[in-house]
Amino acid sequence: MRPDLGQIAVEKVEITPEQRLIVLSDPRSPGADRFRYLRMRLRELGAKGQLKSLVVTSPTPQDGKSTVAMNLATVLAESGRRQVLLVEADLHRPSLAKTLAVTALPGLAECLENGLNPLDAIRKIEPLHWYLLQAGNPLGNPTELLQTASLPAVLDTLTSHFDWVIVDTPPMVPLTDALCLSRLVDAVLLVLRAGKTPQDTVHEALGLLGPGKVAGLIFNGAEDLSRLYEKYAGYYGRK
Ligand SMILES: Nc1ncnc2c1ncn2[C@@H]1O[C@H](COP(=O)(O)OP(=O)(O)O)[C@@H](O)[C@H]1O
Ligand SMILES: [Mg+2]
Repeated sequence: MRPDLGQIAVEKVEITPEQRLIVLSDPRSPGADRFRYLRMRLRELGAKGQLKSLVVTSPTPQDGKSTVAMNLATVLAESGRRQVLLVEADLHRPSLAKTLAVTALPGLAECLENGLNPLDAIRKIEPLHWYLLQAGNPLGNPTELLQTASLPAVLDTLTSHFDWVIVDTPPMVPLTDALCLSRLVDAVLLVLRAGKTPQDTVHEALGLLGPGKVAGLIFNGAEDLSRLYEKYAGYYGRK
């Protein structure tokens, strides 16, 4: 049984969803549709075996990991019917506080460095209906921090309270952080950016993760697909 989050005092912060949260800002767009399709595929995979915690990573910087992680968390939360946590584990270049325009507070780094209770550090982001554990402000080397012995326990504590835990990470090719985190979750989603992510880095990332761990590839920013959707949108009453 999942412990009831209602018993834990969690601060709520209201944000104004911006353009990158396409599932809220433009729910009828092809992009939002693809996120709902991804949710369906994840549910199907979840019916076959344990699938609750997911690392979102990509080969290189700026592929769209954080964008995908936030949109995915939003569709998985199903307007509050599911308890979803987004863990910001890119301790090198945390971006979520800025993107969501919330104050940067202690988070994962402080849980690992000072033993901060992760349940005391999460905040509910409204109207997205999911919870956020921010990166925090690491004093030491972020990559070493993610290899601290307490990380599995921190993730376990959190995972037991949620239906889904999404872990946003740094890029794979220059850093080992995402690889370490991938060992502690059920599956990995690899984001590739159309026209940007170099092919050799995709092979490198897939090779490092190994077969069986990658639940799916997400092709971010695929314009051709959008054009195809546009063409048939009228037929399905989306215009
Ligand atoms: N599909 C997209 N279309 C347009 N801009 C995007 C798209 N995905 C991401 N971006 C933009 O690209 C930049 C990098 O995205 P981000 O999600 O922060 O990447 P990462 O976390 O992989 O470094 C951000 O400015 C974001 O707004
Ligand atoms: Mg990011």
